[in-house]
Amino acid sequence: MCGIVGYVGSRAAVPVLIEGLSKLEYRGYDSAGIVVWEDNQLKLEKKLGRLSVLQEALQGTELNARCGIGHTRWATHGRPSDINAHPHTDCTGRFAVVHNGIIENYLELKEWLEAKGHRFKSETDTEVLPHLVEHYYRGDLKEALQKVVERLEGSYAIVVICRDEPGRLVAARQDSPLVVGLGEGENFLASDIPALLKHTRRTLIIDDGEIVDLTAENVAVSNGTGKPVKKEVFEVTWEESQAEKGGYAHFMLKEIYEQPRALRDTLSGRITPENHRVILKELNIDTHLVKKINRVFIVACGTAYHAGLVGKQVIESLVRVPVEADIASEFRYRGPLVGPDSLVVVVSQSGETADTLAALREAKRLGARVIAVTNVVGSSISREADDVIYTWAGPEIAVASTKAYTTQLICMYLLGLWLAQQRGTLPQNEIREILVELRELSAKAETILDNNSAIEEISRQYKDKENAFFIGRGLDYVVAEEGALKLKEISYIHAEAYPAGELKHGTLALIVKDVPVIALATQKALFEKMVSNIKEVNAREASIIALAMEGNTEIEKVADHTIYIPATHPMLAPVLTVIPLQLLAYHVSVARGCDVDKPRNLAKSVTVE
Ligand code: F6R
Repeated sequence: MCGIVGYVGSRAAVPVLIEGLSKLEYRGYDSAGIVVWEDNQLKLEKKLGRLSVLQEALQGTELNARCGIGHTRWATHGRPSDINAHPHTDCTGRFAVVHNGIIENYLELKEWLEAKGHRFKSETDTEVLPHLVEHYYRGDLKEALQKVVERLEGSYAIVVICRDEPGRLVAARQDSPLVVGLGEGENFLASDIPALLKHTRRTLIIDDGEIVDLTAENVAVSNGTGKPVKKEVFEVTWEESQAEKGGYAHFMLKEIYEQPRALRDTLSGRITPENHRVILKELNIDTHLVKKINRVFIVACGTAYHAGLVGKQVIESLVRVPVEADIASEFRYRGPLVGPDSLVVVVSQSGETADTLAALREAKRLGARVIAVTNVVGSSISREADDVIYTWAGPEIAVASTKAYTTQLICMYLLGLWLAQQRGTLPQNEIREILVELRELSAKAETILDNNSAIEEISRQYKDKENAFFIGRGLDYVVAEEGALKLKEISYIHAEAYPAGELKHGTLALIVKDVPVIALATQKALFEKMVSNIKEVNAREASIIALAMEGNTEIEKVADHTIYIPATHPMLAPVLTVIPLQLLAYHVSVARGCDVDKPRNLAKSVTVE
């Protein structure tokens, strides 16, 4: 995700900002920029690429500035480029803004501002902010920002600097982190604690709806109506490496915990406020082609392929069109029956996976329309596909994919519902029912995370096992595939997933006393059948961890441990079911002393065939 730093004090601001940004580099970014106040002017530099490119551009710059803001950008709206990098300015160059998050209603605001004569330079959502500040400014930056945030929908941490108010920074937060670092005769702002640790451990954690007014001598925090808020000082005791992980022991755990936010962001702006329709403005497919599509292929590797397996069932059921899920490394060698009436969906977190990219090229060669679902704006896959649906998960650092998978699932639902809408294959009330439930997934994911210690306790009992089986039916089976992959890649326990009804055709021979069997039973229509399958393994004295939806307590009679997920539409259950499986794999891996974030033999981005 993007990074923010701000400084006001008596030191040279440029090195302080650059140093702060360098502490946020681990989060991933595609461009960086700073703006400082100097000689009654705002001096701005921003560059595509690494921080070193920005530093080079700043060589020889006067180091007199004592106040400024900086940003590392991870593109969401608009490709990575110098122009789209932050800070962004208004028409007059009087205000500059850095922003983390997504302004959902930016198109509407942009039209409104353009009609008033404002001129835009970038493709970003952020650029509406300096123009809004310009519109509302009457000589007091804080009052202007207060008016601006009233107009915003979405998530943000915003910092604004004004040419006419030297030594003052004003900031606001909603659903995106913002902290103040308290110094002696100097103060700091940052999106994350690591950017502050070199200078101070005394911080104020800013809450949603609050506005910060910062000078070298004073920090004032107020709520949306301008009423002062008294904040407790939070003394940071974390080591630097721990701080990078937001206080979590590993990036994987941090990313598991980021899922409620990532799910919310990926849905943001893509459902009408009344939950009537899916809006995928990014798809430029003409209606005639949408109606003509006679087959869909979802092509990907590893975890992304597992998201494709869910997508297959979801799209088939919503759109009533045949869907194949293909492993990318197999796709182009099997002579797939792809043609101009096919829709090929390639799924890739990194957007750089060589096999997926090759499959995309093959699909295009065969005349198909290709949609990419990816997490990285400007990646090779995003550039070569005809259309792109981004997962707004933010950078994923741990090798084991977690938040990318759940946000890929969200894109599968959105795409399925969008196709159903365009082709009229689903009644409006059913679309609405699913959309309402989709919006609730984020809060339900939080509830599962609240149960982490119980899952950790269960995991500890399985740390010395060498084999595990994951079973399920329907969508539960395909989530079992992902659960097994998570466990094997980070704990090195041999894990296999099976459709529960298939066990007795061979694999049951391996189910003996105390073998762990993780049984997924969230699908209402298949629940009774699943209970019978669990009884089969129970009779062989296997050790059973069952996952079921709340209320299905019958499962406890046949399981050693039961983990409940909040009730949801059965089609959406995979988003929730996978979270306990991620936690299970994580805790087993920690208990076995494995390198959780960098498992042996694996790389985050596989750019070779
Ligand atoms: C597993 C995992 C991998 C990736 C796969 C595809 O946790 O991360 O299986 O899912 O290598 O990578 P992307 O999605 O970047 O194409």
